[in-house]
Amino acid sequence: MRIGMLTSGGDAPGLNAVIRGAVLVGTTVHGHEFVGFKDGWKGLVENDTLPLSRHEVKGISKLGGTILGTSRTNPFEGRGGVDRINEVMVENGLDALIAIGGEGTLAAAKRLTDAGVKIVGVPKTVDNDLDATDYTFGFDTAVGIATEAMDRLRTTGDAHNRCMVAEVMGRHVGWIALHSGMAAGAHAILIPEQKTSLDQVAAWVKSAYDRGRAPLVVVAEGYTLPEDDEPHSERGLDAFGRPRLGGIGERIAPLIEARTGIETRATTLGHIQRGGTPSAFDRVLATRLGMASINAVNEGEWGRMVALRGTEIVHVPFEEALGTLKTVPQSRYDEAALLFG
Ligand code: F6P
Repeated sequence: MRIGMLTSGGDAPGLNAVIRGAVLVGTTVHGHEFVGFKDGWKGLVENDTLPLSRHEVKGISKLGGTILGTSRTNPFEGRGGVDRINEVMVENGLDALIAIGGEGTLAAAKRLTDAGVKIVGVPKTVDNDLDATDYTFGFDTAVGIATEAMDRLRTTGDAHNRCMVAEVMGRHVGWIALHSGMAAGAHAILIPEQKTSLDQVAAWVKSAYDRGRAPLVVVAEGYTLPEDDEPHSERGLDAFGRPRLGGIGERIAPLIEARTGIETRATTLGHIQRGGTPSAFDRVLATRLGMASINAVNEGEWGRMVALRGTEIVHVPFEEALGTLKTVPQSRYDEAALLFG
C-alpha cells in the first residue's frame, strides 16, 4: 500500500516517534510505501509532499517537534474540501492516510472519513484531554518539564520569601496542572474543572507562608475565576475559532499579593512545555501507537484511531474520542487538595 502521513495541530513531544514507528514497521514488515505531507492538512490541500522512507526516520524518535511540520489548518477552508483531498490522494497514488493530531485534527478526519476518505487517526495532545485514550503522548514530557520548572521556581521563591505562581498549559482541562503541581508539592492547584475562589487560594498561600514556606501556586491556563464566565484569553481565536488561552497567572498574582500582603511573582511556562526531547514514556507510547496505526490500516479500519487502554493499544471510532473532553474527576482533585495550604 501507499500511505500518506501528516501531523496537524499544536506539536507534542513524541510526534517523530509515531512517524518512525509507523514507517519502520510499515516498510520493513509489510512492504508499504509512505508519503509525508508538509505542515498538516495544509500540505495535503496544497499537495506539498516530503519523502518518507526508512532513511528519513532514522534516529528521530528522540527529537521534539515533527519532521513533517504542523499547522492549525482547517482542511475544509480555502481551496480544501473532500474533492481536493481525493484529487491529491489519487495524484500521489495513495491507498490511505494516517492523520496524527488532537481534537481539531480528528474532527476534520472524521468529516473526511464520513465522505469516504480512508483515514486512520493517531491521537496527540500534551493536554491529555481526549476521552477515548488513557494517556496521549506528549503529556508525560510536558508534566516533566513543568515539574522541573516548578522545582526551580521554588528555590528562587524560598530565597526571597515570595509566593510563586506557575501557569501551565492544558486548554480546558487541568491534567498538566494537577500532575506537575502534585509532583512539585504545590500549595494550591487551580484547574478549569474547579471554581476555586481567590479567598481560598489566599488562605492556602498564607497557611504555607506562616509555616515558613515559599508558597507555590500552580494555575492551569483554562482556570476561570469565579466571577468570570470564560477562561482568560487575550490573544484572539485560533484557526478553528477557539480562544487562545494564557495570561491568567499574571492576572491572579497581584490579586494574591493584595489579599495576603506576600510579594508574588508569576511565570508562564508556555511553549517550553511542548519543546525538546520526549520522555522515554512518551517515546514508547508514541512508537507503539505509530506501529498500531499500520495494523489499523492493514485491517481497513477507516474512521478509527489507535488509543491506550490500560497497557493495551486498542482501536476506537473517532466519535468516541470526540464526544466529551476527558476532564479531571472530582476525586482526583479532592485527593490532591488534601495536601494544599
Ligand atoms: O492543545 C495544546 C496546546 O499547547 C494548549 O495547551 C494550548 O492552549 C495551545 O495548544 C496553544 O496553541 P498554540 O501553539 O497555537 O499557541
